[in-house]
Amino acid sequence: MKSLVLGVLLVVSLPWPAAADKGSLRLSKVSDFSWENCDGGHDPVVITSLEVEPVPISIPGEVTIGMETKANIPLTSPVKAVVTLEKELRPGFWLLIPCIKNIGSCTYKDICEIIDTFIPPGEPCPEPLHTYGLPCHCPFKKGTYSLPKTSFQIPPVKLPHSLSSGKYRAQVILSNSSTRLGCFKITVPFTEK
Ligand SMILES: *[C@@H]1O[C@H](CO)[C@@H](O)[C@H](O)[C@H]1NC(C)=O
Repeated sequence: MKSLVLGVLLVVSLPWPAAADKGSLRLSKVSDFSWENCDGGHDPVVITSLEVEPVPISIPGEVTIGMETKANIPLTSPVKAVVTLEKELRPGFWLLIPCIKNIGSCTYKDICEIIDTFIPPGEPCPEPLHTYGLPCHCPFKKGTYSLPKTSFQIPPVKLPHSLSSGKYRAQVILSNSSTRLGCFKITVPFTEK
């Protein structure tokens, strides 16, 4: 679970590069997986592409993620992240998942600090970041960051069944003490094997 949390934090903290402001998997079930920058791409940090395969994501299982983000500003500590996580109970009805043990709808005062607790500064960045020369600590320089399609193993997660399978959506808002820096919405279904 730690690595999953870390992965998500790295994903949201990495400046994401430029292509489109909106995306969805080009399959018949377009509505299953989708993402967008909430602000229409006006914040300084935006996602420019995001690919996830397969959809739904299988737990446990392998998921392939490719992503580009772009930051028009350097990201320096502290960077606050406000995460809202919801699960679709039935079409159109979303249940807010509370923040429990730092997972769920949580507010992280400084993701730079959290990253430093998982990856002590001075150590090489974990894969796949290391391979692609991607940074893993603040400050993240302004620029475009691209993670080519990479496979990740999702470990079995001990959650009540009702909490794992189904469609989830997350909103992540990044800000510093004075300004909103980015806002992303991602909807993705999971299936527990
Ligand atoms: C917050 O981000 C804005 C937008 O890039 C920047 O102009 C400002 O200097 C930052 N504030 C702090 C306290 O880092």
